Amino acid sequence: MTQAQVWTHAAAELARCFRTYPSLAEFSSFPTDLVPQKVTTRALPPLDLLATDQALRSGTVSTLRDAVLALACDAHWLEHYRDSGIGDDFMDRFGCFCLVGDQGGFASDQLRVWLVYMPPHLHYPWHHHPAEELYLVLAGQAEFLRAGQAKRWLSSGDTAFHSSNQPHAMTTGADSVLCLVFWRNQFESGPQLTDGNDIS
Ligand SMILES: [Fe+2]
Repeated sequence: MTQAQVWTHAAAELARCFRTYPSLAEFSSFPTDLVPQKVTTRALPPLDLLATDQALRSGTVSTLRDAVLALACDAHWLEHYRDSGIGDDFMDRFGCFCLVGDQGGFASDQLRVWLVYMPPHLHYPWHHHPAEELYLVLAGQAEFLRAGQAKRWLSSGDTAFHSSNQPHAMTTGADSVLCLVFWRNQFESGPQLTDGNDIS
């Protein structure tokens, strides 16, 4: 498939996923204003980890997971936390690229969609952002932490909702995790690490 075909296929799978997961459909409608845009490919170290992570491909058959994984080599991998002081290990192992939004295969004024990948034994520190957010786990598992709520281990098909500026974090154990992340409202500000004093 050409680059455009790979992104179009992923968008079709994404649309199907809104019909499959009620919690996603409750969070948002599938965007009606998707416009294809050119992606400037950028590879970062987490791509190598994802490309060799066989555990994510085993188990349950998932056409959505496979469609998203097929984007990895064409995607523009992101470094949201480059200047945050988060540390080299996190920067080398935490993977993220956009599907819908800046540097993604599609533009939309209605929704943002990213892929997030974390290999085993990685902690994504507490962070927050004005946008409301839904995580959908595509493969693997991770422990999700949300300020004011109990910790939960989530796996394929599970979702986690984060309200506007609610601090949240996640940690992988022996398994890696692959998630789609959806944002609605207030796209202007990206995620910021949360001061420990603001977490309760
Ligand atoms: Fe978030």
